[in-house]
Amino acid sequence: MSQDVSLSAAQAAKLESQPVNDAVSENDLISQDILAYLKAQENKSLLQFITCGSVDDGKSTLIGRLLYDSKLIYEDQFAALEADSKKVGTTGGGLDLALLVDGLAAEREQGITIDVAYRFFTTEKRKFIVADTPGHEQYTRNMATGASTGQLAVILVDARKGILTQTRRHSYIVSLLGIKHVVLAVNKMDLIDYDEERFEAIASEYCAFAADLGLNDIRCVPISALEGDNVFTASDKMPWYSGRSLMQVLETIDVASDTTEQPFRMYVQWVNRPTSDFRGFSGTIASGRVSVGESLTVCPSGKSSKVARIVTYDGDLDSAIAGQSVTVVLEDEIDVSRGDVLAPSAAAPAVSDQFAAHLLWMHENPMLPERQYDLKIGGKTATVVVTDLRHKVNVNTLEHIAGKTLELNEVGYCNLGLDQAIAFDPYKENRELGGFILVDRFTNSTVGAGFIDFGLRRATNLTWQELDVDKAARSSLKKQKPCVLWFTGLSGSGKSTTANKIEQKLLAMGRHSYILDGDNVRHGLNKDLGFTDADRVENIRRVTEVAKLFVDAGTIVLASFISPFRSERRMARDLLDEGEFIEVYMETPLEVCEARDPKGLYKKARAGKILNFTGIDSDFEVPEQADIVLNSADDAVDDLADRVIEYLKGHGFI
Ligand code: ADX
Repeated sequence: MSQDVSLSAAQAAKLESQPVNDAVSENDLISQDILAYLKAQENKSLLQFITCGSVDDGKSTLIGRLLYDSKLIYEDQFAALEADSKKVGTTGGGLDLALLVDGLAAEREQGITIDVAYRFFTTEKRKFIVADTPGHEQYTRNMATGASTGQLAVILVDARKGILTQTRRHSYIVSLLGIKHVVLAVNKMDLIDYDEERFEAIASEYCAFAADLGLNDIRCVPISALEGDNVFTASDKMPWYSGRSLMQVLETIDVASDTTEQPFRMYVQWVNRPTSDFRGFSGTIASGRVSVGESLTVCPSGKSSKVARIVTYDGDLDSAIAGQSVTVVLEDEIDVSRGDVLAPSAAAPAVSDQFAAHLLWMHENPMLPERQYDLKIGGKTATVVVTDLRHKVNVNTLEHIAGKTLELNEVGYCNLGLDQAIAFDPYKENRELGGFILVDRFTNSTVGAGFIDFGLRRATNLTWQELDVDKAARSSLKKQKPCVLWFTGLSGSGKSTTANKIEQKLLAMGRHSYILDGDNVRHGLNKDLGFTDADRVENIRRVTEVAKLFVDAGTIVLASFISPFRSERRMARDLLDEGEFIEVYMETPLEVCEARDPKGLYKKARAGKILNFTGIDSDFEVPEQADIVLNSADDAVDDLADRVIEYLKGHGFI
């Protein structure tokens, strides 16, 4: 195998129609006996790894080298590589292996790797999927995406530069993502004359730092990706290094035991019921081993039974291990549904509706505590809020810093509260049962990735006190059906004025009502809140709880808040009973509100004296399906109030 990548054009031409580096054996097998080839592939284990580092560290060259030396470059790619090397290469006309990898034209021009690129390659011993993740801080989320399925990380450093801030950041993300095995590839050894002392110094500095992160399987390999030293085969330039080459490490490292030695866990992906006399629970075993006769518990319900059969496509098994797809049949008819976890009764996962977790934020819109998101774990979806952002983590220095929100690519340690109890393991112990994603409830985009640390228990000494006089009794005494008229719209749009008029009319009709008004509530209950997005979320959360209490008291509530975000308006709707929440959108245009400027606030906002003013430098998300739409620019307040009264009458509230 060639250690020298700078092949001449003449050498290259000789390769003719063959794949480069005589990839004959595998190809012959493919053409002669495809079944034998496929069988051989099937029996090879798979290692998924990620590479961390920047272009400057030689990351693309290293991946190019792995592909090249594992005989995966074919003639057409080779010709293109040759031409590209001459045109844009950085190796003075020799083959620039980085060009194999930096596929995107934009990347090549900017010299950075933007997205996560997955590449598959194989050697005689193993199959590999490498996720090539970008190294810059603004791509932390991309790195996390690539790392989420990785079993090992190759962290590259430039031997001339040693351990850098980015090395620490990459290692932190690797530890956060639960990757247990790290190879520190000290690259460009050729540029420091294969200096043993320098390598040892870098290696020991790194091991000390990595141990603090809880990374304890570290292998340091001195390499030259460009020259091929210690990438595939041992280098004769570094006789002082007696360890394995990078590829030898990748080919031999044991990652299977990471999951097989954990307790048995399987998410039920599907309740398999083809006929009335067969009922099995299908899924892929996330960890551990299961055997016929074993006692299993269904989580979170806690019901137990024994394994009657383990059914697979190829027939029944006595036992099965992590990675296998099976259908488990239980002895008893117990309730099991999609998303439930099967686990040994003796080692069941924890069940809770609250936990502490690290959260990596992956979206431009920041994480706002108390905002509802969908949490997806296994096959389950729950509604979740971050109840407390305990601290943020500076991903470069690992310092804990205080913060109220998480911005894109930031990591925080949070308490989360769910609307239901779920089964989970700490992420460190089980990536499948401890890892989750957060999804925006409106756009369905993934906004965060979470890693459960431990469960928190609700104050268990609280119960719900049943009271004899209830909402129905109070409502009937008042001869009305309580509800919340929720006015949303810009400041100055006429929300409070209209609500005020409606309340006068309700009073004249002998109805019981109460106005919750943004300005007024902020004088008392919410006087600790300002106008950041996070504070507005909390403002609406508290007010919704109060409105719910008033409704329980049988009162018609008129809530008048800018309430600029769809998410919290929906939260308010969800918190109340069906039909109790009536969204009234004051669509009076900004120009009209600003011209009115009853409190002189628009003027101040335009002058930059008030920040985060809705409509000026803070968003208002227009309701998509308001129950009533009013415009105080077009109609008199009295008419607007009458329309709402008619609505209440028409829907049987009064
Ligand atoms: S909300 O966005 O959190 O729903 P809320 O309705 O409670 O706002 O309060 C809005 C009122 O606060 C406005 O009518 C205005 O009088 C006042 N106010 C002061 N600063 C701001 C600001 N930056 N943005 C909007 N309203 C503000």
